[in-house]
Order: sequence, then structure tokens, then C-alpha cells
Amino acid sequence: MALNLESIGKKIGPYTREYTWNDVVLYAMGVGAGFSELEYCYEKDLKVIPSFSIASITDFEFFSSIAKEARINLAGILHGEQELIFHNPIPKEGTLTTEGRITHMYDKGDKGALIIVEFDTFHSNGQKLYTSIVTIFSRLDGGFGGPEAPKRGFAFPDREPDFIVEGSPSENQPLLYRLSGDVFQLHVDPGFAKASGFEKPIMHGLCTHGYACRALISSLVPGAPEKVRRMTCRFSKTLYPGEPIETLIWKTGDGRAVWKTIHKESREEIITNGIFEYGDVVSEYIRFDDKVAVVTGAGAGLGRVYALELARRGAKVVVNDYGCARDGSGSGSSSPAEDVVNEIKAAGGEAVANFDNVATAEGGQGIVNTALDAFGTIDILINNAGILRDKSFTKMSANNWQAVLDVHLNGAYNVSRPAFQVMKDKGYGRIVLTASAAGLYGNFGQTNYSAAKLALTGLMNSMKLEGAKYNIKVNTVAPLAASRLTEDVLPPDLFEKLQPEFVSPMTLLLCSEECPVTGNIYNVGAGCFNRAAVVTGPGAVIGSGKEIPAPEAVQAGMEKISSMEGARPYDQLNDLVGDVLAQFSPGK
Ligand code: NAI
Repeated sequence: MALNLESIGKKIGPYTREYTWNDVVLYAMGVGAGFSELEYCYEKDLKVIPSFSIASITDFEFFSSIAKEARINLAGILHGEQELIFHNPIPKEGTLTTEGRITHMYDKGDKGALIIVEFDTFHSNGQKLYTSIVTIFSRLDGGFGGPEAPKRGFAFPDREPDFIVEGSPSENQPLLYRLSGDVFQLHVDPGFAKASGFEKPIMHGLCTHGYACRALISSLVPGAPEKVRRMTCRFSKTLYPGEPIETLIWKTGDGRAVWKTIHKESREEIITNGIFEYGDVVSEYIRFDDKVAVVTGAGAGLGRVYALELARRGAKVVVNDYGCARDGSGSGSSSPAEDVVNEIKAAGGEAVANFDNVATAEGGQGIVNTALDAFGTIDILINNAGILRDKSFTKMSANNWQAVLDVHLNGAYNVSRPAFQVMKDKGYGRIVLTASAAGLYGNFGQTNYSAAKLALTGLMNSMKLEGAKYNIKVNTVAPLAASRLTEDVLPPDLFEKLQPEFVSPMTLLLCSEECPVTGNIYNVGAGCFNRAAVVTGPGAVIGSGKEIPAPEAVQAGMEKISSMEGARPYDQLNDLVGDVLAQFSPGK
């Protein structure tokens, strides 16, 4: 049966697994740790060898779902390559939740096929612990007409290794290692091993990998497994238990080494093409590589910071800015957007400028077209462009009312609609709208601005529902930041503390694949974050629901009707209707 190409991109999992310190120690001993590395073997001050990560998810449930989804012929399956990226140290106990997807299938013709699977594992403490990218080599599934695998060069330095660490897996090593979860018969059953073409049961590749991980830590970050950031390798040959190995390590740069594990006597490579990265910096795992982002009003203030940070983390960015005055007047200027594009390029990023006006439908379409023409798609849209025309309500001319609605509310519609179509077609999108505390709570002299900003919440509420099935998430940021919009509104001492950089971490999270929410509003500024929401109190039934109650009866019930005790947000209109109907269901 041919590989199932439709399984690419399909979510696998989540699978959960609880573990305790016993599992951690059992693994450590399975990969050769003992009294000389007591930190891995004694529950007091226990540390987890990072390669435990892959052992802890080689749950057959997970891999058998991959094989089933992809329709891989199990008879020819081999673990080809392994990449582990560590985001946070692994705690000594807890529950792990793993979720992933098949990302690629490559055709190697007669030689077989490569199936690449990527998954993330989160701990019950809320932290993302690691990302694992597994290359499955399927010897019997080649010739399915898929693309060829990209070629990747790898060379070891032409000099003696900086470290050589010996390892001596025992004759019985697989018997201990298999207790960590990989109970495949090939590593225990002599008859099965013979039938598979081996003289006796073989070592688990991941057991040798664990030996290598210990060797790398003891050489490069002794006693500090939490400093391991990334470990990659290719499995090249089987090893029999009881045979001595050596891990050869070359330091190639600051926090980086290459390595291989060889048979000590035959000098054959058992694991090769290894890369090991280490250091103190917590990796910036929220990345936007291969993502295309559009930021409107990105020539200054908050938008500029978003664009720079997105590009720094790998996104290709469309920097839109009409280049108008603070009140929207003027015929526009290309320099704000161009300057930001130049800044991004100077820092090694990718960006194009766009000078359209978000206030018109043609402008909105033009911005999306720039993304499509330059980068072929759009994954992220931050509707950020904004102007102010403050006047007290009776002095609020229709012109000033309309201009502000046109940029903030209609602007978000004009750009989001064509962008939403692209996102819907591809089944992925992140949209961030920009509200304001003026809209959420009111501000003297800003009726136009408040109305436009709160209207965006209505837009978000319904877009969130329409986008849900296409993995489009829509959220809102209500910033508080120093910019030309706020320079005469905020007190100078506060202005100092409100750098726009404080807002971008939330906006970037909401734009990322990791974004955990949709339909939410966050106030963000000066390092303070909170969620704002439209919440609804439990209220009261006045009368029987059959006769229309008198205003006097409503007045009498006002205290209960107005109470916000037990108030909660609704996900959509139907949920409210359901609650109303439930008031009259039997038993109430
Ligand atoms: P900013 O004035 O520094 O930047 C806004 C940018 O939008 C400007 O570069 C401007 O040229 C551009 N722009 C204006 N009209 C445009 C149009 N029609 N088409 C394309 N570009 C246009 O202002 P800031 O503070 O960075 O504001 C960004 C967003 O954040 C705005 O939506 C604003 O209403 C909102 N906001 C800001 C707050 C703050 O404390 N700075 C508070 C609440 C909301």
C-alpha cells in the first residue's frame, strides 16, 4: 500500500504520559549512568539526562499512530535521524503531553522513503520542554512519486577530536534500556533477532544515543544537563550489546560541537553527523521561519517594533505604512515604511515595504497583494495602523468621526477580508487587532476613537468563530505605549516607562503557532499584562416568562439583574441563548 500523502500536516496526538523519578533513574541506568554520575541516579537533587525526552515519548501508541496515518510498511522501518531542541529543563516528575504532525515525505526511489515527523512536548507545569524532529527511513515505501529530500552537507573537522569519551554498554544493556518503553522484540528475543538477519538481539539506537548524550554533557557542560539546547544525529549502523564504543567530539564554535559515536575496535560509525549546541541562553523557540507577516502602520511606534521583532525571529514581513500625520492628514510618504524595511534588511531579515492606505478597500487589497507578490502567501496579519482626532462629543464633526472609523474599523475590515481568504484557503492564520483602553472603558474626548476601537471586538468575536475550523486565531491587543499618538496624553514620567517593546511579546505570542487562545483581548504595557473580556452576570428571571413583566417589576429586580457575581464570558451568541432557554427548562 502506498504512503498516504494526505497524512502530511494532520495532527497526531495529544498523547500524555505521567512519569516519576523512578522512570528518570531507570532511563539513566539504561544508558549507562551509575555512581560516577549520581546526579542522574539518585532522587536527591536528581537531574534528567535530556535524551530522556525521546525515550519518554517512544510510546508505541504515538509511533504506531504515525505509521498508521502515513501507511508506512512497518517491515522496513528504521529510525534514520533525530533532532532534539530543548526549550526548558526536564523536571524530574510530572505529566508530559506530546502532539505533533508529519511534516514531509521524501522519495528516495528504490532506496525507500523518508517520513519526517515533528512534535512538541509540554510539561504539566505549563512549559514547553522540547521539540523533536524524527526522520523515519522506510526502506519499502520508495517510488511513490514524492519530492526528493533536500541535500544537506556535513563535514567533521580535519583534526583530532577535542574529546574522546569511552562507553561500555554491557551484554545485558538492552534488557535494562527496554524498561524505559521501547519493548520491540529485536532488542530482547534471540529468535526474532535471527529472523531479522542479526546474530543476536541488538542495542537500541536510542540507548547508544543516550550514551552519547552523557559523553557530550560530561565533556562540554559537566554536571549541567539543563544547558543542552540542541542535539541532532544520524543513526548509521547497528551495535551489539557488550561492544565498546567511543564518542568523538569536536568543538566548532561558541556553544557548538559536532560529534559521532563509533565502534571502538572496528572504528565503524554507529551514530554520525551529530551536532550539539549548549549554553545559558533560553532558546527563543517562538519562531516565524517560513511565515509571512503583514503589519499595518509599521513605519513607526508599535508597528515598527512588531515588524522588527517578527523579522528577527524569522518572518518575512510586509511593512505597511501610509506615512500620514498623526491625525491622518497629508498625502502620504514612503519613508517610514522604507526606513523600517532597511532596518530589517540591515539586521539580516527579509521585508518589503507597502505604502497603501488601510482606510480604502483598494488599499487593503493592495497590502495583501504585496504579501502575495513578494512572498506567495500570508500567515500573520497585525492590524495596527492608527490615527487620532480627539474632540469633545458635541464638537466631534462628522469628518473627524468618519476619518477615525475609516482607519481603525474599516481599515481592519479592508485588510483582514482579503487576508482571511488566503488563510482560509491554506488552513492557517493569525490575526491581531489593536484596540484601546479608550474603547474598552471610555476616555473623555475620544468618542470616535472609542467607538472604532470597541467595534473591533465585535469584528474579532465573529471572525474567531468563522476562522476556528481553518486554524485561524483572532485576538486583540489593547496597548499602552509611548508613541507620537500618546506623547501629549501620557504624563512624561510614565511615558519613559512605556517603551513599545513591552507590548510586542504579547503581540508576537498571539501571532505565533504557539498562540494558545482565540477571541481574547489583552491590555499590555510596561510589563503589565491582563485579560479584558465582555462578561455576563447570571441575572434573574422576572415573572413567569409567559406574561410580559412591568418596568416596575424590572426595577424591583435590578439589584439581582445587575449583579456581576459569578459573571462569565460567553463564547458565542448561541451560548447565551442556551442559558436563557435553560431558565425555563423543566426542573428550573
Ligand atoms: P504611531 O502613530 O506611532 O503609529 C501608527 C502608524 O500608523 C503611523 O506610522 C502612521 O503613519 C500609520 N498609519 C496611520 N494611518 C494609516 C493608514 N490609513 N494606513 C496605513 N498606515 C497608517 O502610533 P502607535 O502608538 O504605535 O499606535 C499603533 C496602534 O496602537 C494604533 O492603532 C493605536 O490606536 C493603538 N494604540 C496605541 C496606544 C498607545 O499607548 N500608543 C494605546 C491604545 C491603542
